[in-house]
Amino acid sequence: MSDDSPWWSRAVFYQVYARSFADSDGDGVGDLDGVAARLDYLKLLGADAIWLNPVTVSPMVDHGYDVADPRDIDPLFGDLDALDRLVTAAHQRAIKVTMDLVPNHTSSQHRWFQAALVAGADSTQRDRYIFRDGRGDDGALPPNNWVSVFGGPAWTRVTEPDGNPGQWYLHLFDAEQPDLNWDNPEVFEDLERTLRFWLDRGVHGFRIDVAHGMAKAPGLPDMEVAENKLFSDPGDDPRFNVESVHEIHRFIRRVLDDYDGAVAVGEVWVYDNAQFAAYLRHDELHLGFNFRLVRTEYEARALRDAIDNSLAAVALEGATPTWTLSNHDVEREVTRYGGGATGLARARAMALVMLALPGAVFVYNGEELGLANVDLPDEVLQDPVWFRSGGRERGRDGCRVPMPWSGEQPPFGFSDNPDTWLPMPPQWASLTVERQLGDPGSTLSFFRRALKIRRGFTGTGTELQWVDAPADALIFRVEGLVCALNAGAEPIALPDGDVLLTSGPLVGGWLPPDTAAWLAPVRSVSSAARCP
Ligand code: NOJ
Repeated sequence: MSDDSPWWSRAVFYQVYARSFADSDGDGVGDLDGVAARLDYLKLLGADAIWLNPVTVSPMVDHGYDVADPRDIDPLFGDLDALDRLVTAAHQRAIKVTMDLVPNHTSSQHRWFQAALVAGADSTQRDRYIFRDGRGDDGALPPNNWVSVFGGPAWTRVTEPDGNPGQWYLHLFDAEQPDLNWDNPEVFEDLERTLRFWLDRGVHGFRIDVAHGMAKAPGLPDMEVAENKLFSDPGDDPRFNVESVHEIHRFIRRVLDDYDGAVAVGEVWVYDNAQFAAYLRHDELHLGFNFRLVRTEYEARALRDAIDNSLAAVALEGATPTWTLSNHDVEREVTRYGGGATGLARARAMALVMLALPGAVFVYNGEELGLANVDLPDEVLQDPVWFRSGGRERGRDGCRVPMPWSGEQPPFGFSDNPDTWLPMPPQWASLTVERQLGDPGSTLSFFRRALKIRRGFTGTGTELQWVDAPADALIFRVEGLVCALNAGAEPIALPDGDVLLTSGPLVGGWLPPDTAAWLAPVRSVSSAARCP
């Protein structure tokens, strides 16, 4: 990496879903001291930074994405001292800490929202949120037809202080997550206080939740109510990706620019390349989450398109590409790719592809262990998606089950308390960190090797060259390496060269069908893969 390139341009961000990482106080929920106690593991793995899911004060309706106080730590996770301890301990290991920032909405328990309920219509308190009168003679119909991303209407009617039904407020997510009014300067001022509060404590930046949200189309026109998937492509959806959102990102960037090395990573669910790139202009976000690999089947042509489009999008602004295969909102890739041994083999192959790509990568805790989604019984489900969809959508709990660290049975060293916030499957005994560290053939050992090779790359180039390959395979050169993936039904012959790493067993000079990827240094490859 050249000396003047920012630290995040080739960083490995490790996503810590704090509830599920490590529990230090025996309440069955992960916490900040738990994370601090496991930093050596992250060092061993080769993480450059942590992205910490929300740990601020929250009633936890949406597990922290309903923030009641953005400038304090929820007691469930510890306190400000625990955060300081974590940041210090991470810095001692050259690991940076980035936090989640949730600017689109607050919790309904936030003091602003509580004041808005009491203050009544047309008050300055209500103007911090999006309150409107209802339609129809008695205002009994919601102000427009918008639906919540979690299902059901995006409006809830309040009972006014006089006891009568009154105005409606907007919530693009749960009813306990009222949307802020970004036309109100006070909302900007408060965000600046929050940003500086954490940056002054040594935090290196933020993952910005719903970064394509916040601004709403003027006049709040009706949307075309199509299928409301958890995160649908906004297109011309008046709820998302409205031009004035860029003003908010420029504001955030001006604050971050006061702090050396601070980074803003936006959760931008926008698939049009030019519109996505607009968030990465030099005075907006440093990085934008790129969900194309998450949304792509295990199929060579589609994967190649996803990679090409991702690179083309960031190239429009000379920005850094990012890659991710999973997070706390989507089915784990082992399951997405078919589950069982096939799903795992494909997930390992895709990890190798992702780690070979140029730019920054995001690894979700447990991905390095090859964890699959867990089929949880109805009675333990907690995601608001499950409740708001009336039980039609199971929600995201299955990808959030706590990490198995050690031992032979749940809670596998995650906690002293067997009653973990989501139950852990006994079958994970063979997948614990302890077990996998001792097994050179494990997914964890494979990740460690891949991450080590990745760290050895030089240069910050974002160029990628495709090499001729059989139709069901991908072969690309990047940063001194050649990476091949066989997603087809037949084995393919490997190019000549010294293999650095394979995601599964090689059969002679052949890359086995369906499930294997392979990495070699460019200099030793004399020819492209030959069709058998
Ligand atoms: C995106 C977050 O990743 C998700 O977990 C959350 O439910 C929504 N934003 C709402 O904040």
